Amino acid sequence: MLTTASASAGGQARVSGTVPLTRVVPQPAEVRTTAGVAFDLEPDDAVYATAGSKEATDAAAFLTGLLRKPTGYALPVRSLASGARPEGIVLALGGANKVTKPEGYELEVTSHAVTIRADDRAGLFNGVETLRQLLPVKVDRAQRMPGPWRVQGGVISDAPRYGYRGAMLDVARHHLPAPDVKGYIDAIARYKINYLHLHLVDDQGWRIEIKSWPELAKIGGSSGTGGMLGGYYTQEQYSDLVAYAWARGVTVVPEIEGPSHMHSALASYAKLTCDGKPLEPYTDWVNSPLGKLCIDNPTTYEFLDDVIGEIAALTPGPYIHIGGDEAHERPQAEMDLYLQKVAKLVEKHGKKVFGWQEAAGSLDPKTSVTELWAAGINDEQLVEAAKGGGKFVMAPASNAYLDMKYNESLPEYPVGNSWAGTSTVEDSYDWKPEEQVAGLGESTIAGVEAPLWSETVFGINQLENLAFPRLLSIAEIGWAKASSHNWDAFKVRLAAQGPRLREARVNYYPSPEVPWPLGS
Ligand code: ACM
Repeated sequence: MLTTASASAGGQARVSGTVPLTRVVPQPAEVRTTAGVAFDLEPDDAVYATAGSKEATDAAAFLTGLLRKPTGYALPVRSLASGARPEGIVLALGGANKVTKPEGYELEVTSHAVTIRADDRAGLFNGVETLRQLLPVKVDRAQRMPGPWRVQGGVISDAPRYGYRGAMLDVARHHLPAPDVKGYIDAIARYKINYLHLHLVDDQGWRIEIKSWPELAKIGGSSGTGGMLGGYYTQEQYSDLVAYAWARGVTVVPEIEGPSHMHSALASYAKLTCDGKPLEPYTDWVNSPLGKLCIDNPTTYEFLDDVIGEIAALTPGPYIHIGGDEAHERPQAEMDLYLQKVAKLVEKHGKKVFGWQEAAGSLDPKTSVTELWAAGINDEQLVEAAKGGGKFVMAPASNAYLDMKYNESLPEYPVGNSWAGTSTVEDSYDWKPEEQVAGLGESTIAGVEAPLWSETVFGINQLENLAFPRLLSIAEIGWAKASSHNWDAFKVRLAAQGPRLREARVNYYPSPEVPWPLGS
């Protein structure tokens, strides 16, 4: 127990050595600090999870996985009997909780316990991520550190603005080995990103083993942009990634592109091309002019039925993304035919359809989700889809694409694109989901996503440098109340994440726009 108060710079009676409850990314909805009170995690404390709750047990496993190494404490997981008031960390699901919003949680810190209450699994995980940021920075170090492990007293009541907060990795242009994807999952989960969209196939590479079409991985998986970084995930590796993500509160959304961006599939099987002639693998940066599935070929749909069937069976999450972007020259009737057939296959295999915005004109808005990447391509179709009940995930390239360069005049940062303009950290924060397309207001928006395309990106270090810290802007927009939007306030909270990312060995671009603490 601790009662020594010291006035913080803000004048609140924060206990010395604690992180202010307000210094969390994304910003919680409501924060109340209890003056002069703090909780110290002690060597003999336990983690208590609601009796019989798989969700609470999962959250306890996640939490102890974060805390045991740096604290060196045993932190046994115990069953929480109803009505008990234990000492330690409590993960309480359901019951008489006040938290009723999806993914919401209440985190209460008293001198004897930290209690996280939620009505669903996601809420408990979100509470755990907040607690992690309230512990000292040394909690992110992958080795045992001395205490104290002190948390400021108070109450945080929180819930997200949007239910979908995504990050997308293009593992097709350049393959990203599974351990690096796990590292990215660890990093995005910190900021309550709850979906990882994996762009598994594109012209330059096919990255997932399909047992009924083995040449896809063998031939399509062998190439990469510039002839670099080929490879693919075995089904076992993919399932392991899906499970790893779920254990951190993240759901995987696999994408199988089409009808464009499919050169790697066509190069794997000549029977998929329109004239039956084989294609060589493709390694150029730009989109392949030949990477087009043959709409009239019945083999196209046998192939997609098998691919979607195998991937659906490996994917517990609700969505399969079917692409649909950049099929510029295709007549609408062809797009309709293709996308409606593929949507039926996705639904046959028990999943919901996700598509890039160009697919919106072809798909049933009631049963599909549309991902916007650039206003001005097909706004009328999008507004029509919205009128039909469509929901949208906003990923505007000019602000939310993490592969855009920060700055064109930095020779030391040559990676990245600039076709949608450069994007500073402030740019990544300075946009509103509900203002992208007139007619797609707040009620039509399911969430936001931060895609990262990899044709200019060679490996995890460059990838992280593009993603961080801008991913935190997208996480903040997806979670925090619209009324809290304020760059000057955000950049200070963002700065406090620098030392945490550094301790977690996440590479980030130390942009001069952000007032990083000395040494981060
Ligand atoms: C896209 O950037 N073509 C989705």
